[in-house]
Amino acid sequence: MKERIAILGGGLMGHGIAQVFACAGHHVRVTDPIREVRERILPRIEASLDGLGLDQAALSRIEVLNTLGPCVADADLVVEAVPEDLELKQRIFADVERATRPDAILASNTSVIPIGQIMSRVADKSRAIGTHWWNPPYLVPLVEVVRTDQASDAVITATMELLRRVGKSPVEVKKDVPGFIGNRLQHALWREAIALVAAGVCDARTVDDVVKSSFGARLAALGPIENADLVGLDLTRAIHSYILPSLDRSTEPSDCLDRLIDEGRLGFKSGRGFLEWPPEAQAALRSKVTNHLKSAFGTSTKE
Ligand SMILES: NC(=O)c1ccc[n+]([C@@H]2O[C@H](COP(=O)([O-])OP(=O)(O)OC[C@H]3O[C@@H](n4cnc5c(N)ncnc54)[C@H](O)[C@@H]3O)[C@@H](O)[C@H]2O)c1
Repeated sequence: MKERIAILGGGLMGHGIAQVFACAGHHVRVTDPIREVRERILPRIEASLDGLGLDQAALSRIEVLNTLGPCVADADLVVEAVPEDLELKQRIFADVERATRPDAILASNTSVIPIGQIMSRVADKSRAIGTHWWNPPYLVPLVEVVRTDQASDAVITATMELLRRVGKSPVEVKKDVPGFIGNRLQHALWREAIALVAAGVCDARTVDDVVKSSFGARLAALGPIENADLVGLDLTRAIHSYILPSLDRSTEPSDCLDRLIDEGRLGFKSGRGFLEWPPEAQAALRSKVTNHLKSAFGTSTKE
């Protein structure tokens, strides 16, 4: 069955999610308040399909609209991919609920904000869930489907089935915790990485060298739980008894980040962050990551 999908926000994630559904034959409507963004959605998807060697026919199944009402009116699934701003997301879902069918599934693509907070102004919370996609959505297979206390089993099941049908590998997140599963793991690592640099244990480049030339390269084949079993839970326990007391446990963002931000070192967008990023280095890293993901997962897209 081909579903009607509404995507709110046609930026980095929104256009990629639209591409995945359209490639799988679904009819997709995307809305974004910014004209320049709307004008770029189809050319961006066209270039992406071209780069992946996929059929351009998917483009004919995508409509770009400038208002929310007609975008969501007959949707089976609404995916919100607007900026990570709680108040904005809350307001949008209140508007969506008024404009959409009562049986439409409402899903937020938030990176870390609890779904219950985002859906606080939605009256029927049984149909409100998280679907956390990863960038780029057409290459990374995982989508975390986030349950709240009030979400219905039928909504979770239907969403997981739809995601499988479009070629994704959904997992269910059974509790609505900030950051779900992937970003909790990822940012636990980033916190320690930044703490090591701030404490002068090593420079920033060395952190990445250590990860990429050791456990980072192994992670795709050996997850942390498998690894704990592989080395033995007795050894894991012994290691934790020595190391856990000294790991960073800050509950606030690092001062080191504040200092860099104050110096205008924002990363790629300002050409310097922890490291220097001239345009050619940025392009080289982006293409290295894309090629790596393509070889790891193929296009992760169903046609
Ligand atoms: N960038 C990532 O790698 C990534 C990964 C997973 C999840 N996310 C999450 O996905 C969401 C979107 O992130 P992004 O990187 O695509 O951001 P983005 O800035 O590229 O795109 C957001 C788009 O939303 C549009 N927008 C703003 N207000 C809107 C409204 N009222 N209605 C419809 N559109 C509106 C903006 O004009 C913009 O084009 C965020 O919640 C983010 O945390 C991002």
